Amino acid sequence: MTEQDFIPKTYSKSIEKGSVTWASPSNIALVKYWGKKKNQIPENPSISFTLNNCKTTTTLHFSKKENQDSFSFDVFLDGDKKDDFKPKIETFFKRIEVYLPFLKDYHFTIGTSNTFPHSSGIASSASGMSALAMCLMSVEKMLSPETTTDYFNKKASFLARLGSGSACRSVEGDLIVWGEHKAIEGSSDLFGTKYPYDVHENFKNYQDTILLVDKGEKQVSSTVGHNLMHNHSFAEQRFKQANENLSKLIDVFKSGDIFAFIEIIESEALTLHAMMMTSLPYFILMKPNTLEIINKIWQFRQNTGLPVSFTLDAGANVHVLYPEKDASEILEFIKNELVVYCQNGHYICDIIGFGAKQL
Ligand code: PMV
Repeated sequence: MTEQDFIPKTYSKSIEKGSVTWASPSNIALVKYWGKKKNQIPENPSISFTLNNCKTTTTLHFSKKENQDSFSFDVFLDGDKKDDFKPKIETFFKRIEVYLPFLKDYHFTIGTSNTFPHSSGIASSASGMSALAMCLMSVEKMLSPETTTDYFNKKASFLARLGSGSACRSVEGDLIVWGEHKAIEGSSDLFGTKYPYDVHENFKNYQDTILLVDKGEKQVSSTVGHNLMHNHSFAEQRFKQANENLSKLIDVFKSGDIFAFIEIIESEALTLHAMMMTSLPYFILMKPNTLEIINKIWQFRQNTGLPVSFTLDAGANVHVLYPEKDASEILEFIKNELVVYCQNGHYICDIIGFGAKQL
């Protein structure tokens, strides 16, 4: 498919007003997306677990308006008007207008809430942008009821990507690939697709306990971080490595070799942060407690042989990943030894999920 396939020709219906609600989850990348080309095209393919509990619920009310010269919308977070969210949404609307030509026909009221605290250091852009994209696709479906589910999901992911790259991996679950990879059929730079091959039982219901090490605003946004991959000394090697790691994961998912899985995903997390530390200007998003946790995880794994592992996103928080069958022992370890490194003892227990749901 190409971008052109997402430009609608005509709509068969017209509608005055309505409302729609979607809940969409966050996701955690196993092979990381870091570095992009124009229009949020990734420099390398990535793969993620869709989460279940960390999600955004968005209700979109829409009503026809007279003037069709500009976008018109209001945004509310937990019922409070949020004018500071408007520029990001205005930019999003501008980017997607060609694909959703009805955007200037309506006034929109966007009401949103997250299951995780806004200032938790958990990015709400993946869940937030995908929830909004799903709502907009529901409006398009009302205008064009013949839209198929496959097209709906692909276009929702395509639109979400234009809002925030990794958001395109939140539409479906449980394992989503985004970015063209030569060995993964159907993989695309334009939208996320379900991982199409065998996945061993060991990876079903995988657990993700998110340790909130630092809830503050990040010093460097991911937009800035992605841009620093242009002219980065290690960029080409890194993009090649991501492709190779994804190739290796295909075998690992099939065989169920959790320790091979751990080696790949921990290396990916540390490589992501190594890219940050070797950018110019360089920066560090990990905190001392991030490293304390990583060392404790390694120690515990060595002492017990249990397959506990970590990954990181673009921040200080640690995602502790482990199989369902070892959950009780590992959760006990987390509570006894890791929670002490979390800000105010805060952590979130999550599990792999299956994508956005209409409410
Ligand atoms: O979607 P963005 O632009 O916020 O970038 C996300 C980048 C990482 O979370 C660090 C990696 C990823 O693949 O999700």
